[in-house]
Amino acid sequence: MKEFNILLLPGDGIGPEVTAQAELVLQHIAEIHKFNLRLKHGLIGGAAIDEHNDPCPQETLAVAEESDGILLGAVGGPKWDGLPLNERPEKGLLRIRSELGFFANYRPAKVYASLANASPLRSELTKDVDILILRELTGGLYFGEPRGRDTSADAVEDTFAYNTLRYSRKEIERLVTLAFTAAKQRDNRLCSVDKANVLETSVLWREVVNELAKDHPEVTVSHLYVDNAAMQLVRAPASFDVIVTENLFGDILSDLAAQLVGSIGILPSASLRKDSKGLYEPVHGSAPDIAGKNQANPLAAILSAAMMLRYSLQLDEAADHIEAAVTKTLDSGIRSADLLDQDGDSNKQPIGCKELAEAVINNL
Ligand code: IPM
Ligand code: MG
Repeated sequence: MKEFNILLLPGDGIGPEVTAQAELVLQHIAEIHKFNLRLKHGLIGGAAIDEHNDPCPQETLAVAEESDGILLGAVGGPKWDGLPLNERPEKGLLRIRSELGFFANYRPAKVYASLANASPLRSELTKDVDILILRELTGGLYFGEPRGRDTSADAVEDTFAYNTLRYSRKEIERLVTLAFTAAKQRDNRLCSVDKANVLETSVLWREVVNELAKDHPEVTVSHLYVDNAAMQLVRAPASFDVIVTENLFGDILSDLAAQLVGSIGILPSASLRKDSKGLYEPVHGSAPDIAGKNQANPLAAILSAAMMLRYSLQLDEAADHIEAAVTKTLDSGIRSADLLDQDGDSNKQPIGCKELAEAVINNL
């Protein structure tokens, strides 16, 4: 029997609730498809700060490096909001991404037919949406040095703060190469998003995309400035196939894409490097307002687990199986609170986190 080591990092807020449900789904799918999962639990984010005074303990990084796949819930919450940036829960997430080298963040956003009315946009605009955002995850403004705040000035109004936006050709090349591969497995269209009318890093980004395009003549390449891309994503979202972009732009556009499919509660993601190891996490955050109330949507975590089976464990059939069970569950009309129709389907009672996951498991 095939065996895999999986590390679960539930984190904070709704993270533990949604990863617990994804864990149940994994246990069921392993039984059905006859493979063995050795599941370990670890600490990250606020949970790790509380225990070890460190949002990303060495122990977590060491176990993660030995695991075949890592499933993370979410990090952050009001409890740790007062901490300096360097000590916050988010730093834990940024460190595991960067120290383990997960530079390629895949964020698919595909509309489910049965959720056509969940988006605030008209369904005729969103019904054919099937976008893959490939976000650079270990460079750019998030990690550029120097960064900080200068407090040496005598007058308070002279204080300044700074971050560095820096990209090397190599960083761009390795991501964009994967974007061409992804486009070829989809509809052969690649849109690179930058701000090349203002930023040097974007000029380099665009150069690299155009150079690599020569090796992939079958892929139609376009470039959009990020402000225009935001507008086009709302105006004509179905016109996009693969979007490749830098770290911060990808962060912003993937939240926008969440509203095209109806809710950020169903968006999974995979962060990969050159080997098959990966970090899988919902695109949503820790949602402290609904934490512990059994109201969270577990689908993004469950779908992230499916991505883990596909990309890190090469268990395509098992991944397809989970995704089909999710589709079937949504087709049956079951909804968590975040998925209720925008046009106010007042008769519908939302279902809880556990109950939604149970329905998925029943459909497996
Ligand atoms: C995301 C999140 C994170 C990010 C935060 C929590 C650091 O917004 O995964 O999109 O900005 O990358
Ligand atoms: Mg984000």
